[in-house]
Amino acid sequence: MVKVSLEGALAFMGPEGPDYAAAERAHRTLLQRSGAGSEFTGWLDLPQRMADTELKDILAAAQRIRQQGQALLVVGIGGSYLGARAAIELLRGASHNQTSDGAQVYFMGNTLSPDALYELTQELGDRDFTVNVISKSGGTLEPALGFRAAKAMLERKYGKSGAKERIYVTTDARRGILHDTAVAEGYPRFTVPDDVGGRFSVLSAVGLLPMAAAGIDIEAVIACAIRELQELRLSTPDNPAWQYAAARQKLCALGKTTEILACYEPSFRFMAEWWKQLYGESEGKNGLGIYPASVEYNADLHSMGQYIQDGPRCLMETVVSFDRPLHPCAVPFAEGDPDGLNYLAGRELTDIQNVARDAVVAAHVAGGVPNIGIHVPCRDEAGFAALVCFFEAACAVSAYMSGVNPFDQPGVEAYKKNMFRMLKGE
Ligand code: PA5
Repeated sequence: MVKVSLEGALAFMGPEGPDYAAAERAHRTLLQRSGAGSEFTGWLDLPQRMADTELKDILAAAQRIRQQGQALLVVGIGGSYLGARAAIELLRGASHNQTSDGAQVYFMGNTLSPDALYELTQELGDRDFTVNVISKSGGTLEPALGFRAAKAMLERKYGKSGAKERIYVTTDARRGILHDTAVAEGYPRFTVPDDVGGRFSVLSAVGLLPMAAAGIDIEAVIACAIRELQELRLSTPDNPAWQYAAARQKLCALGKTTEILACYEPSFRFMAEWWKQLYGESEGKNGLGIYPASVEYNADLHSMGQYIQDGPRCLMETVVSFDRPLHPCAVPFAEGDPDGLNYLAGRELTDIQNVARDAVVAAHVAGGVPNIGIHVPCRDEAGFAALVCFFEAACAVSAYMSGVNPFDQPGVEAYKKNMFRMLKGE
């Protein structure tokens, strides 16, 4: 399990501290599946279900995808996009995610920008590629248009029947335009389970197929996630999901209505985007919710650092740290000490990064920004699984504590109604 540190937050909360009794009630509601939206709590046992059902087929499809080309275009938006990108960037690096054991994964269908589409085709060049289109509803405009474009690209390169061999669909098991198209065309199909909402679906085929195609060990991810979700059932204040949920709810009640998620690993950027969707869509309703924001340190210390230190005091900060680097590296010795930094020569960069992090936490806490620390052993499959399970469980507990249904997103429909009305000229 991840470790949560509330050292930099408790002083802001007064003598009573986080409300663990409320966290316990919310957690019980979640586990008994008795709260609002309980029909969407399938993610609680999703990893075990994947191990028992689709996992082998996903591995086989991923192997085929890797044999078919060096690039995979993943078409999707929101919960049908962010989890896979978060995993691949975290575990494979932000912009160079191709490895000898995996395809390079590109994401499309999350924008209507013609320039982005053009740049993607340039980047792809004449490499062989495949397409995985992902949409639970099967009717979302951005990925539907993205899929049109991707299919046209395939057909230009491989012809109609060749294109068919290179399309993989992840969608509802029974209904929807994409489902019907996949059945009619005979595309290999993977399922977004009925009882799992988009933003909780990363450990289904939605995330696992792109991850496996990129060469990530999804069997390890699933095995770790099964263990994590079991451990997160713990019903005491030692449960890190209770600690995080109760702390942020308490801080929000005290006026800290914006939470900034920070990490010192650039490859964490899309984990933060995934987290923003998870918490934003789950909690932001009925006039309630903590605004989820993110920063990428050290870079943003030199852009957002001023605001966080000195701006409006409605902020709390949550810092994710990986205890061990994958590739340790020490500061080199420089002849003549031209920059005066030889006192750091031989010191591990991680060690320096940790000092910088602790210095930032101390400064921000002193400046009135409570700090929650989240510690993960390593930026590997186990670390990814631990973060996903922890954030999902804590999100549901936190949303139930604030009295909202964590699993619906009625607000997303408003723009869609307007957009379709305006597109049809009504
Ligand atoms: O979390 C959600 O449910 C949403 O963000 C959806 O994932 C997003 O709107 C995309 O929907 P769909 O997968 O139906 O295309």
